[in-house]
Amino acid sequence: MEIRELKTGMVLQEDAYTPSGSQLILPKGTVLDDQRIARLAFYGVKSVNAMTREEAASLILDAPATKKATAAVKAAAAPPTDVPPKQVQVPPPATAKTAMEALGGKQVTPFEPPKVTPTAPAAPARPARPAPAPAAPPREPSYSERLRNSPEFKKFKMDFEDTFISYQRSINEIVRGDKEIDTHQLIAPVYDLIHTCYGPSNVFDMLHALRSYDDATYVHSVNVALIAHTIGEWMHLPEEDLELLTEAGLLHDIGKIMVPHEIVNKKEPLTGDERVKMRMHPQLGYRVLERKNVDQHIKNTVLMHHERCDGSGYPRHLTMEKIDPVARVIAIADVYDAMTSERVYRKALSPFYAFEMIERDGLQKYDPHPLMAFLENLSGAYIGNRVRLDDGSEGEIIYINRQRYSRPTVRTGPNTFVDLIEHPEIKITELI
Ligand SMILES: [Fe+2]
Repeated sequence: MEIRELKTGMVLQEDAYTPSGSQLILPKGTVLDDQRIARLAFYGVKSVNAMTREEAASLILDAPATKKATAAVKAAAAPPTDVPPKQVQVPPPATAKTAMEALGGKQVTPFEPPKVTPTAPAAPARPARPAPAPAAPPREPSYSERLRNSPEFKKFKMDFEDTFISYQRSINEIVRGDKEIDTHQLIAPVYDLIHTCYGPSNVFDMLHALRSYDDATYVHSVNVALIAHTIGEWMHLPEEDLELLTEAGLLHDIGKIMVPHEIVNKKEPLTGDERVKMRMHPQLGYRVLERKNVDQHIKNTVLMHHERCDGSGYPRHLTMEKIDPVARVIAIADVYDAMTSERVYRKALSPFYAFEMIERDGLQKYDPHPLMAFLENLSGAYIGNRVRLDDGSEGEIIYINRQRYSRPTVRTGPNTFVDLIEHPEIKITELI
């Protein structure tokens, strides 16, 4: 059946894969809704094997109970899951081989960055700003609301808090010099957390639903570990590199423990002197780990995670090839988490605002290889999410523009669509 013929409530009779066959998008038995149909279309799937619940039910009545029919009826009879695990991935722009080479610090293929216009080209006659959608009737709970109330999220939240407590204890012991670093003990709770999430895209959903913590060091480090591991999965890196990224995420900001608490958590802008102290944390962290039994990539990451590929970072203004490849992945996870987390001095920014900031200077500042894997996969995972726009309207993301990941098309009413590339004056303020 062609994608355009699919209707809400139909049941997939076979697993749906990306056209290349490399990634599962939706498993057999999935009850389709608008969001899932949009995902199939986004990943270029032309047709799937699906039928209505009634057809699935009649199949079992008309024919001997085959395995296929039983599965169909089971799915038809089951109520739609409130928050199914998302299993959305698209092949990353890089191959596993080049990714491994990059992480090994070897020569990487020169990158031809796609042309991303920093600002939308001036149109001679820009379409008028669409009127905000009329007040919507009472609506169903949003995906985020359902997620927050789901048993999966409640378990994730409890596990996250356990991970955070055990991580905080470990990190303080390391800084005090009480013990050597036990890599397995350090990263094991994060791996348990990853398994709670069911899939890479779900990590971001869970973290987004958890954005109530205001902590610039411990919670941030656990978040960065989860995000960096996910980027590594999207790059198809081998397991040992994923572990390296996870550990690097947990330890990258260890130097902040030695920066006065009142500076790290200050609400007002830092003074010049405070900024200098804050910017010492990479070197302070490196000194803590220098003689510890940790991989050299981790030590480099602690020192280099604020370096930027165009030489604009600190402390040593290194450029792309001089920056450890693990640090180049951590830099993306770090900046994304810092922007999308609540801080004492500001509210959390929407992921699309973060995409815009990264797009604006990303191709110069960040390693394009992990960056493209990150933007491609994460933006696609937001299809079907509800968002609030700064004109007060709400809508659902229905299309991601690969030239501008930060400017999707949003459906704000039954027949009202806002293409944010056509309307650069409108911004997504939050996911709802
Ligand atoms: Fe840092």
